[in-house]
Amino acid sequence: MDKIVVKGGNRLTGSVRIGGAKNAALPILISSLLTEGWCTYENVPVLRDIDSIKQLLTHLGADIETKGHTVRINAKGLNNPEAPYDLVRKMRASILVLCPLVARLKKARVSLPGGCAIGARPINFHLKGLSLLGADIELKHGYVEASADSLKGNEIYFDIPSVTGTENLLMAAVLAKGKTVLRNAAREPEIGALVDVLNQMGAKIEGAGTSVISVEGVENLQPVSISIIPDRIEAGTFMVAGALTQGDIEIIDCEPDHVSGVIHKLRQTGTDISVKDKTIHVKGSKDIKSIDIKTLPYPGFPTDMQAQFMVLLSVAGGLSIISETIFENRFIHVSELRRLGADITVSGNSAMIKGVPALSGAPVMATDLRASASLVLAGLIAQGTTEINRIYHLDRGYEAIEKKFQNLGADIQRIR
Ligand code: EPU
Repeated sequence: MDKIVVKGGNRLTGSVRIGGAKNAALPILISSLLTEGWCTYENVPVLRDIDSIKQLLTHLGADIETKGHTVRINAKGLNNPEAPYDLVRKMRASILVLCPLVARLKKARVSLPGGCAIGARPINFHLKGLSLLGADIELKHGYVEASADSLKGNEIYFDIPSVTGTENLLMAAVLAKGKTVLRNAAREPEIGALVDVLNQMGAKIEGAGTSVISVEGVENLQPVSISIIPDRIEAGTFMVAGALTQGDIEIIDCEPDHVSGVIHKLRQTGTDISVKDKTIHVKGSKDIKSIDIKTLPYPGFPTDMQAQFMVLLSVAGGLSIISETIFENRFIHVSELRRLGADITVSGNSAMIKGVPALSGAPVMATDLRASASLVLAGLIAQGTTEINRIYHLDRGYEAIEKKFQNLGADIQRIR
C-alpha cells in the first residue's frame, strides 16, 4: 500500500488551486438517478470516493463517461434497486442512493453502512423521514428494504441537523406528491449546491441555507449541466498548512464565505489572513496563539477541520481545548500526534492540547480521512522524517495532495 514520507521544516510559499468538493460531488452525482438523460458535471475531483460512487451508479444501471474532471451520467437505464454491502461498506455516502431509488424505481434494497472509525453514524433520520413520505421500510439481513408506490409530501423534523439525511430526503421530496417541509435541516454549503442542481433540473425547492427547507413535488426532472463548488475542507487544510509552516500562500479558486469559521479561528491564532474574491492569502505567524474550538453544524466550526487545527494548536504557546460535538469518536489522530511529541489529553468529547516547542517525525497511520490529513500537516513541521502509512483514506478525499504540497515547497513524496 502507498505511503507518504515528509521531511519537516520547509516554509510553504506560492499558490494552490482548490478542487471540487467531494461532499458536494457525491450527492450531486447521485442526483442524476432522478433524471433520464445525460447530466454533465465539471470540476469533479479525482478521488477514490468518487470512483466508489461511480462504481455503485454503474451497478444500478447508469451509464457513465469520465474525461479528466468532467463526468457525464445517464440514468435512463436505471433498473437495479440494490446497493450491495461490498459497494456500500467502502463509503457511507452510498446510503444517498436510497431515496432516489425509491423515487424512481418505487423500491430500494440498500446495505446498512454500519459504524465507522469516527463513530456509530446511524441513519435513523434518513429512514424515519422516508417513512414519513409514505415508504414502507424494513431492515432485513443487514439491508434497508424500502418501497412506495408513490411518495407523498410531509413535515419532517431532524433531531440533529444531518447533512446526508437532508440531502437524501430532498431527493425523495422533489418527486413526491405535494409539499414537504424539512425542519432543523442542515445548512452546509453542500446542501445549497445540491438544491441548486435539483432546482435546475426543474425541482421547486426554497430555503436552502436555512434550517427550514420546503419542497413542492414535481412530476419529473430534466438533466443538468453544472460545475461542482470548491472544496471548503481542502481549502481549510491548506490554510492551516500555511499557518503552521509560517508560510505565505495563496489559496485560489476557493469560496471564502464557506470557510468563514475557519478564517475567524485562524486569525485568533495570530495568522494573517486576507480575502479577495475567490482567493485567500495566508501568512503564518512565528508565535501561534492557543485558542479553544467547539465543532458545530454549519455555519459553526466544521468537525472536518478539527484534526488539522489540533496539529496547529499542538505547537501553539499555551493551552487549547477542542470540544468535538458532532461525532463521538473523532480523536483518532490524538494517539498518533502524541507519537510525534504532541501533549494532548482527551476527556470525553474534549481534548486538552498543551503547546510544545516542536514535533519530531515518526511512522504514523490513521483510519479516517481528516485524521490522515492532520498527520501530513504534522509531518510538514516535525523535525526529521514522518512516514504516513495506510494513505488509502487520504486518497478518498484529497486529490494529488503530495503534488500540491510539493508545489508549495514541501519535501514530501509518495512511495508506491
Ligand atoms: N445522525 C444521527 N442519525 C442519522 C444521521 C445523523 O444520529 O440518521 C447524527 C450523526 O451521528 C452525527 C450528526 O447526526 O452525530 C451529524 O451527522 P451527519 O448526518 O450530518 O453526517 P453525515 O451526513 O454522515 C457529512 C459528511 C462528513 C461530515 C459530516 C458533518 C458527507 C458525505 N459526509 O456526514 O464528512 O463530517 O457531514 O459535517 O457529506 C468527511 O468528509 O471526512 C466526512 C466525514
